[in-house]
Amino acid sequence: MIAKIISEVEKLGRNTVTIRFRWDQEVQPGQFLMVWLPRHSEIPISVSHTGPMKGITIRSYGETSAAMIGLREGDRIFFRGPYGRPFDTKPVRKLIVGGGSGMAGLLPLIDSDARGVVSARTSSDLLFADRFAEGHVTVVTDDGSSGIKGYAIDGLKSLPLDEFDMMYVCGPELMLKSILDYIVDKPIPAQFSLERIMKCGIGVCDSCSIDGKQLCTEGPTFTKEELLGMHEFGTARLTESGKRIQIGRH
Ligand code: FES
Repeated sequence: MIAKIISEVEKLGRNTVTIRFRWDQEVQPGQFLMVWLPRHSEIPISVSHTGPMKGITIRSYGETSAAMIGLREGDRIFFRGPYGRPFDTKPVRKLIVGGGSGMAGLLPLIDSDARGVVSARTSSDLLFADRFAEGHVTVVTDDGSSGIKGYAIDGLKSLPLDEFDMMYVCGPELMLKSILDYIVDKPIPAQFSLERIMKCGIGVCDSCSIDGKQLCTEGPTFTKEELLGMHEFGTARLTESGKRIQIGRH
C-alpha cells in the first residue's frame, strides 16, 4: 500500500473532487488505482491526471467515495496500483465519448485536436467538457439543461465518424452498449472502458468478471471486437455478494 500526502483538492461541482498528489510512477491513460481510507472499503478509481502530479477524480456514490470527497490538502491517501490494461493511444484523430463520471478516465486522452461528446444527467453533473478546445465538444444532458437533450448516442449521430482514427468511450454500461450497437457496422475502431465491482484488483477474487474475463487484469479497456464477443456486456453483472443479476432491458 502506498501513502501520499494530498497537495491539492479541486472541487468540481456539488459531489465531485479531483485529488492531486506527487507520485513519480508511470501511469497510462485507462489505468486505475485501488484507493483506501482507514475505516472504509477499498474502491477502484481511474487516474484522471497521469503526469508527475497524479490526480484521481472522485464522485460521491457510496459511503467510501463520500468520505473521500471530504479529504483536504495535507491529508493522506492510500492506494495500490496502477492496475489494468491501458488504452492504446497511438491513433492521432481521437473521438472521446464520456458519460457522467466516466469522463475522469478519459481526461488524459484530451489534446488540442480531440473531439468530444460529453453527456450527463443534468448540467451540474457534466465533467471536463471545458477541457476540449473551443468548438470541439458536443454536450448532451438527459434533461436538456445544457446542450442537446438526450443521451450520448444523440450527440454522436451528427458527427462524421469516418474522420476519426479511434473512438474512446467510458460511462454507464448501458450507454456503452448503445454506442457499441450504433457503431457495430461503422468503420470506426473503438475502445471502451468498463466498470464493475472490484475487490482485489489483481485477478484473484473474480468479483469483476465478465464472460470469464477479469476486468481488473484483462480490462478495464476492451476493443469493439472484444466486446462484441461478450454476452454479459450490457446484460448481466455480479453484485457485491457475487450474485449474477440482469441489467438493461429484456
Ligand atoms: S477485482 Fe478481483 S479478480 Fe478482478
